[in-house]
Amino acid sequence: MKITHLPLSPATRQQGAMQSYYRWHAVVYDATRWTFLFGRNAILQKMVALNPGTVLEVGCGTGRNLKRLAGLMPDVQLVGVDVSSDMLKRATRASRRFSRRVLLFERAYKPDAQAWPVQPDAILFSYALTMFNPGAEEALDRALSDLPADGMVAVVDFHDTPFPFFRWWMGKNHVRMEGHLAPMLEKRFVTREKVIVRAWFGLWRYILYIGVKRNPDLMST
Ligand SMILES: C[S@@+](CC[C@H](N)C(=O)[O-])C[C@H]1O[C@@H](n2cnc3c(N)ncnc32)[C@H](O)[C@@H]1O
Repeated sequence: MKITHLPLSPATRQQGAMQSYYRWHAVVYDATRWTFLFGRNAILQKMVALNPGTVLEVGCGTGRNLKRLAGLMPDVQLVGVDVSSDMLKRATRASRRFSRRVLLFERAYKPDAQAWPVQPDAILFSYALTMFNPGAEEALDRALSDLPADGMVAVVDFHDTPFPFFRWWMGKNHVRMEGHLAPMLEKRFVTREKVIVRAWFGLWRYILYIGVKRNPDLMST
Protein backbone atom coordinates (compact mmCIF):
# COMPACT_ATOMS: atom_id res chain seq x y z
CA MET A 1 0.00 0.00 0.00
CA LYS A 2 1.32 3.42 -0.92
CA ILE A 3 1.13 5.98 1.88
CA THR A 4 0.62 9.51 0.65
CA HIS A 5 1.53 12.34 3.01
CA LEU A 6 -0.62 15.40 2.61
CA PRO A 7 1.46 18.59 2.44
CA LEU A 8 1.53 20.55 5.70
CA SER A 9 -0.05 23.99 5.66
CA PRO A 10 2.35 26.96 6.07
CA ALA A 11 0.80 27.67 9.50
CA THR A 12 1.39 24.09 10.68
CA ARG A 13 4.99 24.28 9.44
CA GLN A 14 5.53 27.54 11.36
CA GLN A 15 4.22 25.95 14.56
CA GLY A 16 6.41 22.86 14.07
CA ALA A 17 9.45 25.06 13.42
CA MET A 18 8.83 26.95 16.69
CA GLN A 19 8.45 23.74 18.69
CA SER A 20 11.76 22.37 17.35
CA TYR A 21 13.63 25.66 17.65
CA TYR A 22 12.62 26.24 21.27
CA ARG A 23 13.18 22.61 22.32
CA TRP A 24 16.85 23.55 22.74
CA HIS A 25 16.73 27.34 22.95
CA ALA A 26 14.38 27.16 25.95
CA VAL A 27 17.33 25.95 28.04
CA VAL A 28 19.45 29.07 27.45
CA TYR A 29 16.66 31.55 26.67
CA ASP A 30 16.56 33.61 29.87
CA ALA A 31 20.34 33.56 30.27
CA THR A 32 20.95 34.94 26.77
CA ARG A 33 17.99 36.98 25.48
CA TRP A 34 18.43 39.97 27.80
CA THR A 35 21.48 40.87 25.68
CA PHE A 36 19.35 41.66 22.61
CA LEU A 37 15.59 41.59 23.29
CA PHE A 38 15.56 45.27 24.23
CA GLY A 39 12.53 47.32 25.24
CA ARG A 40 10.66 44.59 27.11
CA ASN A 41 10.69 46.41 30.46
CA ALA A 42 9.72 49.66 28.71
CA ILE A 43 6.61 48.12 27.12
CA LEU A 44 5.63 46.54 30.44
CA GLN A 45 5.89 49.94 32.16
CA LYS A 46 3.67 51.48 29.48
CA MET A 47 1.10 48.73 30.06
CA VAL A 48 1.20 49.23 33.81
CA ALA A 49 0.49 52.94 33.31
CA LEU A 50 -2.65 52.03 31.32
CA ASN A 51 -3.71 49.63 34.08
CA PRO A 52 -5.59 46.88 32.22
CA GLY A 53 -7.58 44.38 34.30
CA THR A 54 -6.72 41.36 32.18
CA VAL A 55 -3.71 40.87 29.92
CA LEU A 56 -3.14 38.13 27.36
CA GLU A 57 0.49 37.61 26.33
CA VAL A 58 0.78 35.88 22.98
CA GLY A 59 4.00 33.89 22.64
CA CYS A 60 4.70 34.27 26.36
CA GLY A 61 7.76 32.01 26.16
CA THR A 62 9.43 31.40 29.52
CA GLY A 63 6.98 33.67 31.34
CA ARG A 64 9.48 36.42 31.99
CA ASN A 65 7.00 39.20 31.16
CA LEU A 66 4.04 37.56 32.91
CA LYS A 67 6.03 37.24 36.11
CA ARG A 68 7.00 40.91 35.97
CA LEU A 69 3.49 42.10 35.18
CA ALA A 70 2.10 40.01 38.05
CA GLY A 71 4.61 41.66 40.39
CA LEU A 72 3.92 45.18 39.09
CA MET A 73 0.11 44.93 39.06
CA PRO A 74 -1.23 43.13 42.15
CA ASP A 75 -4.78 42.80 40.79
CA VAL A 76 -4.16 41.97 37.15
CA GLN A 77 -5.37 38.65 35.70
CA LEU A 78 -2.86 37.21 33.24
CA VAL A 79 -3.21 34.70 30.44
CA GLY A 80 -0.22 33.35 28.53
CA VAL A 81 -0.32 31.34 25.33
CA ASP A 82 2.57 29.68 23.55
CA VAL A 83 2.98 26.94 20.98
CA SER A 84 6.16 25.53 22.59
CA SER A 85 5.70 23.12 25.50
CA ASP A 86 9.37 23.54 26.42
CA MET A 87 8.98 27.29 26.84
CA LEU A 88 5.71 26.86 28.74
CA LYS A 89 7.29 24.46 31.24
CA ARG A 90 9.58 27.32 32.20
CA ALA A 91 6.70 29.78 32.25
CA THR A 92 4.87 27.53 34.71
CA ARG A 93 7.89 27.59 37.01
CA ALA A 94 8.43 31.35 36.59
CA SER A 95 4.85 32.22 37.46
CA ARG A 96 4.35 29.67 40.26
CA ARG A 97 4.24 32.38 42.92
CA PHE A 98 1.35 34.03 41.07
CA SER A 99 -0.38 30.85 39.91
CA ARG A 100 -3.83 32.03 41.05
CA ARG A 101 -3.60 34.97 38.65
CA VAL A 102 -1.72 33.41 35.72
CA LEU A 103 -3.34 30.96 33.31
CA LEU A 104 -1.14 29.28 30.69
CA PHE A 105 -2.22 27.58 27.47
CA GLU A 106 -0.19 25.48 25.06
CA ARG A 107 -1.73 26.52 21.80
CA ALA A 108 -0.96 28.22 18.51
CA TYR A 109 -2.41 31.72 18.39
CA LYS A 110 -4.54 31.83 15.26
CA PRO A 111 -8.03 32.83 14.16
CA ASP A 112 -9.68 29.47 14.92
CA ALA A 113 -7.96 28.81 18.29
CA GLN A 114 -10.30 28.16 21.24
CA ALA A 115 -11.61 31.13 23.19
CA TRP A 116 -9.93 32.23 26.45
CA PRO A 117 -11.71 31.77 29.77
CA VAL A 118 -11.55 35.57 30.33
CA GLN A 119 -11.64 38.34 27.76
CA PRO A 120 -8.37 40.34 27.73
CA ASP A 121 -8.47 44.15 27.95
CA ALA A 122 -4.95 44.22 26.56
CA ILE A 123 -2.86 41.90 24.42
CA LEU A 124 0.94 41.88 24.58
CA PHE A 125 3.15 40.61 21.77
CA SER A 126 6.76 40.73 23.00
CA TYR A 127 9.25 39.54 20.37
CA ALA A 128 6.66 37.08 19.10
CA LEU A 129 5.09 38.59 15.97
CA THR A 130 8.31 38.70 13.91
CA MET A 131 8.42 34.89 14.38
CA PHE A 132 4.91 34.40 13.00
CA ASN A 133 6.07 33.68 9.43
CA PRO A 134 3.53 33.30 8.07
CA GLY A 135 0.76 34.19 10.50
CA ALA A 136 1.37 37.74 11.77
CA GLU A 137 -1.64 39.18 9.90
CA GLU A 138 -3.86 36.33 11.13
CA ALA A 139 -2.59 36.73 14.72
CA LEU A 140 -3.43 40.44 14.65
CA ASP A 141 -6.87 39.67 13.25
CA ARG A 142 -7.36 37.25 16.12
CA ALA A 143 -6.21 39.95 18.57
CA LEU A 144 -8.88 42.25 17.16
CA SER A 145 -11.56 39.65 17.75
CA ASP A 146 -10.26 38.85 21.26
CA LEU A 147 -10.30 42.49 22.40
CA PRO A 148 -13.31 44.56 23.50
CA ALA A 149 -14.14 47.78 21.60
CA ASP A 150 -11.56 49.93 23.41
CA GLY A 151 -9.04 47.11 23.91
CA MET A 152 -5.31 47.75 23.72
CA VAL A 153 -2.47 46.06 21.88
CA ALA A 154 1.13 46.45 23.07
CA VAL A 155 4.02 45.30 20.90
CA VAL A 156 7.77 45.25 21.31
CA ASP A 157 9.71 43.55 18.55
CA PHE A 158 12.49 43.78 15.99
CA HIS A 159 11.76 46.42 13.36
CA ASP A 160 14.42 46.40 10.63
CA THR A 161 18.12 46.35 9.80
CA PRO A 162 20.12 48.07 7.04
CA PHE A 163 22.43 45.01 6.81
CA PRO A 164 21.35 42.23 4.41
CA PHE A 165 23.63 39.67 6.09
CA PHE A 166 22.09 40.34 9.49
CA ARG A 167 18.57 40.15 8.00
CA TRP A 168 19.51 36.79 6.48
CA TRP A 169 20.97 35.54 9.76
CA MET A 170 17.86 36.52 11.70
CA GLY A 171 15.78 34.79 9.03
CA LYS A 172 17.78 31.61 9.74
CA ASN A 173 16.58 32.06 13.34
CA HIS A 174 12.96 32.38 12.17
CA VAL A 175 12.82 36.17 12.66
CA ARG A 176 11.53 38.41 9.86
CA MET A 177 13.09 41.85 10.17
CA GLU A 178 11.63 43.90 7.33
CA GLY A 179 9.76 46.74 9.00
CA HIS A 180 6.54 44.89 8.21
CA LEU A 181 4.86 45.02 11.64
CA ALA A 182 4.23 48.78 11.82
CA PRO A 183 1.93 48.90 8.76
CA MET A 184 0.10 45.74 9.89
CA LEU A 185 -0.56 47.33 13.28
CA GLU A 186 -1.51 50.74 11.90
CA LYS A 187 -4.00 49.11 9.55
CA ARG A 188 -5.90 47.58 12.46
CA PHE A 189 -5.36 49.81 15.49
CA VAL A 190 -5.46 53.50 16.32
CA THR A 191 -1.86 54.31 17.19
CA ARG A 192 -1.34 55.75 20.67
CA GLU A 193 2.43 55.48 20.66
CA LYS A 194 5.00 54.27 18.15
CA VAL A 195 8.71 54.50 18.87
CA ILE A 196 11.49 53.04 16.75
CA VAL A 197 14.80 52.64 18.60
CA ARG A 198 18.33 51.90 17.34
CA ALA A 199 20.12 48.95 18.92
CA TRP A 200 23.78 47.95 18.89
CA PHE A 201 24.95 51.15 17.14
CA GLY A 202 22.39 50.73 14.36
CA LEU A 203 22.82 47.01 13.60
CA TRP A 204 19.03 46.82 13.92
CA ARG A 205 16.06 48.85 15.17
CA TYR A 206 13.22 47.69 17.36
CA ILE A 207 9.67 48.96 17.70
CA LEU A 208 7.55 49.82 20.74
CA TYR A 209 3.90 50.19 19.83
CA ILE A 210 0.70 50.85 21.74
CA GLY A 211 -2.58 50.85 19.83
CA VAL A 212 -6.27 50.81 20.59
CA LYS A 213 -8.80 48.76 18.70
CA ARG A 214 -10.69 50.86 16.19
CA ASN A 215 -14.24 51.30 17.35
CA PRO A 216 -16.35 50.04 14.41
CA ASP A 217 -19.15 52.48 15.36
CA LEU A 218 -16.80 55.44 14.90
CA MET A 219 -15.08 54.28 11.69
CA SER A 220 -15.89 56.12 8.48
CA THR A 221 -17.04 53.97 5.58
C1 LIG B 1 11.29 35.24 21.08
S1 LIG B 1 10.12 34.33 22.04
C2 LIG B 1 9.40 35.63 23.04
C3 LIG B 1 9.04 35.14 24.43
C4 LIG B 1 8.56 36.24 25.37
N1 LIG B 1 7.39 36.91 24.85
C5 LIG B 1 9.64 37.23 25.66
O1 LIG B 1 9.45 38.43 25.44
O2 LIG B 1 10.70 36.81 26.17
C6 LIG B 1 8.81 33.99 20.87
C7 LIG B 1 7.77 33.04 21.44
O3 LIG B 1 6.65 33.01 20.53
C8 LIG B 1 6.16 31.68 20.48
N2 LIG B 1 5.39 31.48 19.24
C9 LIG B 1 5.86 31.51 17.96
N3 LIG B 1 4.87 31.24 17.10
C10 LIG B 1 3.74 31.06 17.83
C11 LIG B 1 2.37 30.78 17.50
N4 LIG B 1 1.97 30.60 16.23
N5 LIG B 1 1.47 30.67 18.51
C12 LIG B 1 1.86 30.85 19.80
N6 LIG B 1 3.14 31.11 20.17
C13 LIG B 1 4.07 31.21 19.20
C14 LIG B 1 7.43 30.84 20.53
O4 LIG B 1 7.17 29.50 20.89
C15 LIG B 1 8.27 31.61 21.55
O5 LIG B 1 8.08 31.12 22.87
